[in-house]
Amino acid sequence: PIVPVLMCGGAGSRLWPLSNETTPKQFHAFAGDRSMFQLTLERLYTDGRDELCAPIIVTGERYVDLVREQLAELDLEPLSIVLEPMGRNTAPVAVIASLLAREHAPEARVLLLPADHIIGEPERLYELIQGAAGVEDRIITFGVRPDRPETGYGYIRRGRRLDGEVFEIERFTEKPDLARAEAFVKDPEFCWNAGFFLFPPSLLLAEMGAYQPDVLEAADASLTAARRDGPLVRLDPARFAGCPSISIDYAVMEKTRKAAVAACDVPWSDVGSWKELWRLGPADARGNVARGEALVLDSDNCLVHATSRKVAVLGLTDVVVVETPDAVLVLPIDRSQDVKAVVEALASGA
Ligand code: GDD
Ligand code: MG
Repeated sequence: PIVPVLMCGGAGSRLWPLSNETTPKQFHAFAGDRSMFQLTLERLYTDGRDELCAPIIVTGERYVDLVREQLAELDLEPLSIVLEPMGRNTAPVAVIASLLAREHAPEARVLLLPADHIIGEPERLYELIQGAAGVEDRIITFGVRPDRPETGYGYIRRGRRLDGEVFEIERFTEKPDLARAEAFVKDPEFCWNAGFFLFPPSLLLAEMGAYQPDVLEAADASLTAARRDGPLVRLDPARFAGCPSISIDYAVMEKTRKAAVAACDVPWSDVGSWKELWRLGPADARGNVARGEALVLDSDNCLVHATSRKVAVLGLTDVVVVETPDAVLVLPIDRSQDVKAVVEALASGA
């Protein structure tokens, strides 16, 4: 059996103002009427996949109603909805998911998934997941070929083939600087860490215990003292607050000798910034992407995203304009990674 675990507690602050504290990006529908969270589940739960258990959802306490509504729209009963009193990044999510999955089915694999990616060819993706599930005693991540020196991703240099599309990992480097990212992209043995993982829960717990025991202890304690109510699991706030905030990549993947990578040849995008949304298009002949009631005249390579009003731009190059009922954002497209700074400035009362 495979227990899918959806991580959907991130703030998605680089997609402000569309993504915000009340409704972060994973609960938004960017195209069509399903949110990214729902699309992630729909890619997974199609007929005939009998080895798939019901999902575990791990999210922030404040998103419980959104999650329940969006699950109900899909007619999907979760195994658990784990509610975090505050964000502590993905390492404790992996621990808590492993403990719950093991409780449910000791021999199961955990499939740890971000809820905010766009992935094509779901049939092929599932084939790759099934292939990887046949490999014993490994924490498997999925790797995609990079086409640019993106610094916001993890990079993997692969080693010898273990089985099928699964390879040994020679080196895992989370979020390198630009110089190193440029060197990595030139080497054909490198891929990006696509950010989803498959592992036996006991192995993840053992490796976390070896390399980041403070996370293992705090996460375990917060679950032991959790308040449970049907599928709802409310982690103990004091114990969870004591957990260091660190990602699974830094806590385990960079260090463990049990890591492996499955070569993943499906279209993949971490919808992490406005520039990435622009890249996904569809663009007109001059590279402009217009969403909603947006009018783009005599401009090149712009993204104009309107949600509640008509928005018109003229004579602009490489600019992002995003309009919502609450806020308007304008910036050069190459500063898309810096939107976080706007959110921080606003939060501190600017
Ligand atoms: N429940 C919960 N709680 N989910 C979280 C938390 C948290 O505290 N923090 C992050 N998440 C969720 C996010 O919503 C996202 O779906 C996923 O975990 C990964 O977090 P990101 O913050 O988006 O990570 P990243 O994009 O910087 O880096 C990771 O993904 C890259 C590919 O997209 C790493 O795994 C990189 O190595 C990888 O290349
Ligand atoms: Mg991400």
